[in-house]
Amino acid sequence: MKMTVIGAGNVGATTAERIAYSELAHEVVLLDIAEGVPQGKGLDMFEAMPVLASDTRVRGTNNYEDTANSNFVIITAGLARKPGMSRDDLLAANAKIVGSCAEQAFKYSPNAFYIVVSNPLDVMTHVVLQKTGLPRNRVLGMAGVLDTARYRTFIAMELNVSVEDIQAFVLGGHGDSMVPLPRYTTVAGVPISELMPQDRIDSIVLRARNGGIEIVNFLKTGSAYYAPSASAVQMVECIVKDKRRILPCAVALNGEYGLNNVVVGVPVKVGKNGIEEIFEITLTPDEQAALNASADDVKANIAKLATMDY
Ligand code: LAC
Repeated sequence: MKMTVIGAGNVGATTAERIAYSELAHEVVLLDIAEGVPQGKGLDMFEAMPVLASDTRVRGTNNYEDTANSNFVIITAGLARKPGMSRDDLLAANAKIVGSCAEQAFKYSPNAFYIVVSNPLDVMTHVVLQKTGLPRNRVLGMAGVLDTARYRTFIAMELNVSVEDIQAFVLGGHGDSMVPLPRYTTVAGVPISELMPQDRIDSIVLRARNGGIEIVNFLKTGSAYYAPSASAVQMVECIVKDKRRILPCAVALNGEYGLNNVVVGVPVKVGKNGIEEIFEITLTPDEQAALNASADDVKANIAKLATMDY
């Protein structure tokens, strides 16, 4: 198992380290255009392996040839947000970067699974699908796992219970229009509505929606990376181990949920073939309207791409 992580910034480096630490791959290649950075971080990570008791070989490179025959390509390259920026502000710059990364990686690894982490996430997943021409089961965007992790964290904080006992998922685009579903949120099987008043649920939903910018406002010079990298690696692990977990992932929809020609987050079964199945759950008219609005935001950005050279 060989895995390439493109982008040796905070998200990429943390992702590579998590993969190596958990011995999910025999070889991890960390690629970046910055000279020396992936080499330095890769070597440093490799040197940690004797202490961590992992036989994963990590190396950094600036050269796509070194990524040849990867089973996974995880794309984290691109600009991150600064305070005051929305994910959509990154559209033009990151479409160019992510498009070029996908094209070059695909040349050497046409049979890989592509996990997209760069923002604006749903549109970048669309870009990778376009540039590689891969079937949709092999191209997954990481957003829902992260958004759900934040939502679960805030519920656990509120109720002072284990994060493990919170079952939940969010739908929609990774952005301000993401759609957390309190109706499908339980704590050890108990519906959340039994455990806290609606106004507390509403404020947790709002905090989850703004979870990314909350971190950006603290860090000032970049965005979150611990939770994003953990989320991306969980998706990789589900495929490697054929776990068939139900995870919210950004995927191309062909009529599911009444949506077409758009990448948006929905619950999917993740296993050895990547997306094994898209779960269509029943939504109330309000929930469907929120999902449609979120998909419309993504569609508007996909339409903007058509006017850009990327
Ligand atoms: C976040 C950014 C990475 O949600 O989109 O933290």
